[in-house]
Amino acid sequence: MASSTLDALFETHLSLRHRRQGKVRDVYDLDADAAGARILLVATDRVSAFDVVMPTAIPGKGRILTSIATSWFSFIRRHGIVRDHLVSTEVPALPACDGAQRAALEGRVMVCRAAEVVPIECVVRGYLAGSGWSEYQSSGAVCGVKLPAGLAQCAKLPEPIFTPATKESSGHDENVNFERASSAVGRELMERLRTISVAIYSAAAAHAHTRGLILADTKFEFGFALDASGQPTNELLLIDEVLTPDSSRYWPLAGYAPGRDQPSFDKQFLRNWLLTLVATGQWNKSTPGPELPADVIAGTLARYEDALARLVSN
Ligand SMILES: Nc1ncnc2c1ncn2[C@@H]1O[C@H](COP(=O)(O)OP(=O)(O)OP(=O)(O)O)[C@@H](O)[C@H]1O
Ligand SMILES: [Mg+2]
Repeated sequence: MASSTLDALFETHLSLRHRRQGKVRDVYDLDADAAGARILLVATDRVSAFDVVMPTAIPGKGRILTSIATSWFSFIRRHGIVRDHLVSTEVPALPACDGAQRAALEGRVMVCRAAEVVPIECVVRGYLAGSGWSEYQSSGAVCGVKLPAGLAQCAKLPEPIFTPATKESSGHDENVNFERASSAVGRELMERLRTISVAIYSAAAAHAHTRGLILADTKFEFGFALDASGQPTNELLLIDEVLTPDSSRYWPLAGYAPGRDQPSFDKQFLRNWLLTLVATGQWNKSTPGPELPADVIAGTLARYEDALARLVSN
């Protein structure tokens, strides 16, 4: 079923219908039940950077992401902000799957309500970092949202801003302003997504703060639940992963200071190593990515584990 190195799960080939593969997740159709269509999301240990999936996986990363996402889905439910797609994290009955294969899936699957995906990445930023910081330096705005002059790198914004991006099939998502996103999917829906996204961000950022973390920015995906015959309904769901280090930028609160880059719990460590290869002409940010050496695997994993311990432990 799986090609693996060092117990890392790189990919799966389950005997289920309609296998598709994202950068990190393998997705399959499950049988619909009376409540609607179902999918199985498997969080593998693949890691991507600069939109390129690395040939080396990070052992255990998919389980860490699943624990973090599951814990945030419960949090969002407790706050009653929006419905979500998560049905169960139990490995379902699977054809032609032995005990070892089931064990490899344990802790990294989500049975979900299938949705028609809204083709907009709903990004919320509370701090000025990444592409937002680059855009601000050249235009004083981020995705059409004008910001006060004189903000430093990684500065806290006066209030969280909603900066949607289109989901591009090329893998390189494109920042767009609210108007363009509205013309793609409708203004009323975009306004709803903005309200929900900012509400989740604000509640999650306040919670992360109590765990010694700054949630600098994050990305949500939404979709419309499919009924048992696969037709979209008008029930809006929060889908995909939520508030993981893959979809969010977390910084340690201790030592935070605007005016410079911050250490982070995501794959910035991996990106920095890759940039040394780019600087020396050994890699040009295109596929295939380089094999990752043991110290880069260990350093990347340590940061994901740290995020898990801070966010999910009691
Ligand atoms: N409930 C759902 N119904 C249908 N599709 C879903 C659902 N939840 C997540 N997805 C999709 O499953 C895929 C998850 O794979 P992964 O996170 O690896 O993708 P990705 O490389 O980030 O790709 P994308 O650019 O499409 O987000 C995404 O395409 C996501 O939109
Ligand atoms: Mg994704």
